[in-house]
Amino acid sequence: MATIAGIPAHVPSDRVVDFDIFAPPGVEEDYWAAWKSLRGPHGIVWTTANGGHWIATDGAITRDLWADAERLSSESLAVTPGLGEVMDFIPLQQDPPEHKPFRMAVMKGFANQYVTAMEPLVREVSSELAEGLAPKGGCEFMSEFAEILPIHVFLTLIGVPTEDRTKLRPLGQQLTRPDGSMTVVELRDAADAYLEPYVRARLENPGTDLFSRILSVPIEGRAWTFGEAQRMCRNLLFGGLDTVVAMLGNFAMHLAQNPADQALLREDRTLIPQAADELMRRYPTVSVTRNLVADVEVDGITMKDGDLVYLSSALHNLDPDCFDDPERVDFARNLQPVRHTTMGVGAHRCVGAGLARMEAITFLEEWLDRIPEFRIAEGTKPRFRGGNVAALTDLRLSW
Ligand code: HEM
Repeated sequence: MATIAGIPAHVPSDRVVDFDIFAPPGVEEDYWAAWKSLRGPHGIVWTTANGGHWIATDGAITRDLWADAERLSSESLAVTPGLGEVMDFIPLQQDPPEHKPFRMAVMKGFANQYVTAMEPLVREVSSELAEGLAPKGGCEFMSEFAEILPIHVFLTLIGVPTEDRTKLRPLGQQLTRPDGSMTVVELRDAADAYLEPYVRARLENPGTDLFSRILSVPIEGRAWTFGEAQRMCRNLLFGGLDTVVAMLGNFAMHLAQNPADQALLREDRTLIPQAADELMRRYPTVSVTRNLVADVEVDGITMKDGDLVYLSSALHNLDPDCFDDPERVDFARNLQPVRHTTMGVGAHRCVGAGLARMEAITFLEEWLDRIPEFRIAEGTKPRFRGGNVAALTDLRLSW
């Protein structure tokens, strides 16, 4: 087998590419097209960028590896060295069997009745924001809408007055649009400092909020430690803000670029839930890293125990072998059962999926009721940034 300097001997030379997952070619213009450029004859490639790691390029292989929590560990979190140790999220970075009791507790906290109970707040914030923007004839959607709604939702979920949003907003912005002014350690420490009083209070004197509900579920018969509680609350903060920001932005961008779809939803509101599901499939933004804890044979090669593999929902959801004509948005597409990986698949599938879906549907309803036909503002182009959670950074709309 040919070897290239710096590339492990078990990596065949025809699998080697140079693809930076943080800055795929052309990502600022179109995140999904940038990932598509990686598709080729092989289902798995090795990139020399970021210290060297595998990337699954085939949709079915991506999904199969993502679902394999036995041979692929979630511990390392990202290809960025050290990030996993810094964040140490619960339950995101736990492997079975340790993962299960923590995940069960978090799932209980997100049970359907609590998601339903949040709907009036999402409706109120969405309608107030849209009403405020309507007379202006346009907006920069990411900063004036998308970044605001999930912060309100998060604060209300954890039982904190929404006036606190001014404290959380800069953190949220660093997560969604890191400007290099904070290291990841500083970001984690700032999140922990913000959360600490609430975590301590909810542990000592539980109420009915999300943290209290989760922390009152025993872990195999014992109470949560403060350290575990902090790692879990940190996971919810980091998992539930920029992902929703990205989703809202992508929905608004699609409708701005596709007036016919906008008209369809305005004419028939009953289409909105399935439109939300289809837009989630069409515009996935999350990619994950797994570290192998066993040798894995796939696509005619052997990935070795200890290797890192990167799995992108964009490469799965937009693979024509997995979904017919995948780039076309079709509100009538049958998405049941859910096969796309926007929310992941398997043991770590998103615990906030129901909440995010409710936010998506409610946003569409309120926005379309209050904003007249809208489009991308003339002379502007949506701008993206890549990363483990990609997002629009600039989306100017006019109406
Ligand atoms: C559109 C919005 C969202 C997207 C696209 C999204 C995506 C994902 C994905 C892909 C995973 C799986 C990660 C993996 O396999 O390693 C995940 C897990 C997770 N998400 Fe979300 N998420 C969203 C919203 C939320 C919200 C609103 C919350 C909570 C407030 C949340 C909390 C979590 C947590 C705690 C996990 C870890 C679950 C586990 O490890 O068992 N997410 N999410």
